[in-house]
Amino acid sequence: MPKETVTITDNRTGQSYELPIERGTIKALDLRQIKTGPSDFGLMTYDPGYMNTASCRSRITFIDGDAGILRYRGYPIEELAEKSSYLEVAYLLWTGELPTVEGLERWKHGVRYHTMIHESIKKFLDGFRHDAHPMGILVSTVAALATFYPEAKNIEDPETRRIQFYRLISKMPTLAAFAYRHSVGMPYVYPDNSLGYAENFLNMMFHGREPVGSLNPDSHHSPVLARALDVLFMLHADHEQNCSTSSMRMVSSAFTDPYTSVAAAAAALYGPLHGGANEAVLRMLREIGHVQNIPTFVAAVKRGERKLMGFGHRVYKSYDPRAKVIKYWADRVFEVTGHNPLIDIALKLEEIALADDYFISRKLYPNVDFYSGIIYEAMGFPTDMFPVLFAIPRTAGWLAQWRESLEDPDLKIARPRQIYLGPEQRSYVAIDKRRDSVEGNGIE
Ligand code: CMC
Repeated sequence: MPKETVTITDNRTGQSYELPIERGTIKALDLRQIKTGPSDFGLMTYDPGYMNTASCRSRITFIDGDAGILRYRGYPIEELAEKSSYLEVAYLLWTGELPTVEGLERWKHGVRYHTMIHESIKKFLDGFRHDAHPMGILVSTVAALATFYPEAKNIEDPETRRIQFYRLISKMPTLAAFAYRHSVGMPYVYPDNSLGYAENFLNMMFHGREPVGSLNPDSHHSPVLARALDVLFMLHADHEQNCSTSSMRMVSSAFTDPYTSVAAAAAALYGPLHGGANEAVLRMLREIGHVQNIPTFVAAVKRGERKLMGFGHRVYKSYDPRAKVIKYWADRVFEVTGHNPLIDIALKLEEIALADDYFISRKLYPNVDFYSGIIYEAMGFPTDMFPVLFAIPRTAGWLAQWRESLEDPDLKIARPRQIYLGPEQRSYVAIDKRRDSVEGNGIE
């Protein structure tokens, strides 16, 4: 029987080391024993962007990037998108199991109970400029919630953790909708707890206002749109150790409260390479403007001058399973809202890219963001709201991962190592003895 170990020979010393392999990994700390002498710190790994480093053990989300598989707690995303609901999925991510009828009712009741935000939060919402990006508002206001619930610091108490989970799942749509209403100078619409989760969010967004860009002004009342949004929420609920989730785990490893940690995760999500990509896709499709301009755009991508936003993924090296579900829902949504012409450009762009060797050889396929923005736009959401629409459902994943990390006996404060490349020790030079400062040093 082969041994589950790897033997490493250090050619500097000729010494061999046998390291255990567990689930396809070796422990980075096991490398420390590999040294040239007593003063040597020991071997480390260098892995910018964590390309090949497992930062935790998790039981929440499984992805097989080559096969295009995504499962939450073992359930395939396609089945959940067809049969489940966002709140059920949030429950599943947090607890590990799907709820019973009574369990789901209690959970929904709890979520409804916490949808309001403190009236004072409206005051600092009002302090933002009228054109403030709603994601900036969301990041700030969710961090501010920590000051309203100081007991949330008690992260070691499971009951306290549970209440913050309810609060965050409940309040994110309210904060998001209020951020939007502020940006359009409209009065805030309070949560209506007789409505479902997505329905209530659509109502807080668009009540008394025609959705911008939607071809059908009453479309936000459509149950098809509420269901489509709920499906999109499910698809975005978790995605294992991506940039924002890793930020959540990293910040909360210092035992920071969940509101501040979620704000940090949302800040990571804001970036155009992560949750900001759906916004970037729409800007790109608008810039392309017409299917006949696609070849010129693709040529610029291949010359490395542009990026095809919504394509490529660190983990998926085949079609993102979420993109398939979104494509299906795009047609249902357009039946209600009217056809979004950007879909024609997107479909043609996908067709051309998937037949081109540049994209084939690099295994670049559409990811979740390629089609989501087109649906959001058809629903009437302005482009600025797209990353916010990602942050609302991802809160369930961030919090499930947060809980798991705190319950993990292996939890340590995140503190990576570095390879120092700076100067050796040198003596301080008096200011009048220094040579002219270096040009291009980034300050002058
Ligand atoms: N357009 C053109 N070329 C690309 C793209 C793209 N979208 N993505 C990757 N490449 C090329 C890249 O230039 C490189 O080529 P070469 O080997 O010739 O240097 C090769 O493919 C490998 O790319 P990489 O940058 O090493 O891959 P990565 O794993 O570091 O980056 C990514 C992953 C998602 C940041 C990247 O694919 C990208 O920037 N995509 C566009 C932004 C996007 O859609 N982001 C949303 C990700 S899904 C939602 C989420 O999880 O947030």
